Amino acid sequence: MSITFVSIRSVVPDGDADPDASWTITALRDGLAVGMVGMTINRLPAETEGAERKPMCGWIYRVFVDEATRGQGVGSALLSAAIRTAREDGCTTLGLTVTHDNPARRLYERVGFVACWPADEKMIAYLLPSLDAATAA
Ligand SMILES: CC(C)(COP(=O)(O)OP(=O)(O)OC[C@H]1O[C@@H](n2cnc3c(N)ncnc32)[C@H](O)[C@@H]1OP(=O)(O)O)[C@@H](O)C(=O)NCCC(=O)NCCS
Repeated sequence: MSITFVSIRSVVPDGDADPDASWTITALRDGLAVGMVGMTINRLPAETEGAERKPMCGWIYRVFVDEATRGQGVGSALLSAAIRTAREDGCTTLGLTVTHDNPARRLYERVGFVACWPADEKMIAYLLPSLDAATAA
């Protein structure tokens, strides 16, 4: 199966000199979209006044693969692309939330995400402990 990826970056103004960014990475097979990952890049508050560069955190808000294409590695490849993009954008970490009962948790854990805290009674938050060390399965 030959999959190509198209990445679109948009800037999200937040009233700051350093706007946040949003990424949509789409997986295409024979020119048709079969999956996507959406991610925002948020600047965290600078710890030091006047710091040249504020720490940045990537947050995956959606991963989706067409039902007929699941189980063939597209989800892993999309996460891999998101990890690479977050790293290239200067993020120090990457996170997401997922419902407790979603089997996608196995995929996240395989890629290197670690369950950190229950976001609420339905959702659990995951973070990559090291963006540099992370690789997709
Ligand atoms: C999660 C999802 C993106 C994975 O895409 P994929 O292309 O099938 O992923 P891969 O082929 O790379 O890996 C398959 C892995 O997905 C996970 N998975 C298996 N069945 C699943 C299911 N019904 N739903 C979600 N994830 C599943 C497993 O970890 C599986 O690997 P394993 O069987 O070895 O444990 C896809 O199943 C999907 O779009 N699910 C519906 C939307 C969703 O739940 N998104 C996550 C919300 S946070």
